[in-house]
Amino acid sequence: MNEKSYLEIRIQIEKDALFSLSQIETLNELETWRINTLGRNGKVTGLLRGISDLPVDSRRKAGGEANSLKNLLTEKYESQKSGIENKENNVTGNGPELLDVTLPGRSISLGSLHPTTAAVREICQVFESMGFQTIEGPEVELDKYNFQKLNIPEEHPARDMWNSLWIDRELPDGSRPLLLRTHTSPMQIRTMESQSPPVRVVVPGKTYRYEATDATHEWQFCQIEGLAVDKDITFANLKATLEEFARRIFGDKRKARFRCDFFPFVEPGAEVSIDCFKCEGDGCRVCGNTGWIEIMGAGMVHPKVLAGVGYDPEIYSGFAWGMGAERIAMLKHGIDDIRHFYSNDMKFLKQFS
Ligand code: PHE
Repeated sequence: MNEKSYLEIRIQIEKDALFSLSQIETLNELETWRINTLGRNGKVTGLLRGISDLPVDSRRKAGGEANSLKNLLTEKYESQKSGIENKENNVTGNGPELLDVTLPGRSISLGSLHPTTAAVREICQVFESMGFQTIEGPEVELDKYNFQKLNIPEEHPARDMWNSLWIDRELPDGSRPLLLRTHTSPMQIRTMESQSPPVRVVVPGKTYRYEATDATHEWQFCQIEGLAVDKDITFANLKATLEEFARRIFGDKRKARFRCDFFPFVEPGAEVSIDCFKCEGDGCRVCGNTGWIEIMGAGMVHPKVLAGVGYDPEIYSGFAWGMGAERIAMLKHGIDDIRHFYSNDMKFLKQFS
């Protein structure tokens, strides 16, 4: 073969290929065209192979021509392909060309407060109006604050009240004192250590327990701690403050009940309940037929705890409480499972916007 006939063949292939391509309407046909033209045994590939049959001084030009044909046809193939794809998509309605400007716009979702956040804010506001300051503290705590200074010594069985998630991190002295706080009570100590009386704080925040989850237990939840320390603080102040809180959150008519309970950092300790807002005390499903609903733990700050932070228990006294924010929200909204708060289910969350 000589250069002239080689170039003629090239022009013929180009003409044929472009013509047949222009007739193609489906992706199947297009694929057959690609195989016949650009495929391993296709015409263009044959043309490229034919270069070696040419005299050496013609090969360079012929190679350039054959390559430009390959590029041209590849380009045409790609654009034909996307053309067909767009058309097909339009038929099924997925294509970028299918823009119906008469459709109504999509509304922008503004989002809303998570029910736990909403409860925390509402609860803290009630206490703020009584002169308490809202503060926050660390979620990774030291044994010293989570337990020891709250009158819960190392190895003491009272620790079993709080199933703890310990952090596997050794300090230079070989101790492993870090854990995810099991309650917000360590902030009682941190607050008293950093200021002198009078103290009035509320501390909302996340707490963690090594616990199996069920309708009333989560391994991560939110507590709200409260602490008041001053001269002449008595149990009457505790009662009045928490009863006022219960009325502001659950209605004017609420009565509060205080019964003995044990927490190592208070003495006396109490379990605080309100009379059932659903059945007014007659007994129903919400209150488990008892007429009362437990809402928090509380008590007078233990003299040992006061002494431990350098407050003189002969001069100062105080009260503290701790409640679960989700529990309050559950009671308020009639939510029957605490796991809803942490499952990110929009159907649940949207009810509180
Ligand atoms: N920290 C206690 C708990 O997690 C609750 C509590 C706080 C009780 C303050 C008394 C006083 O169960």
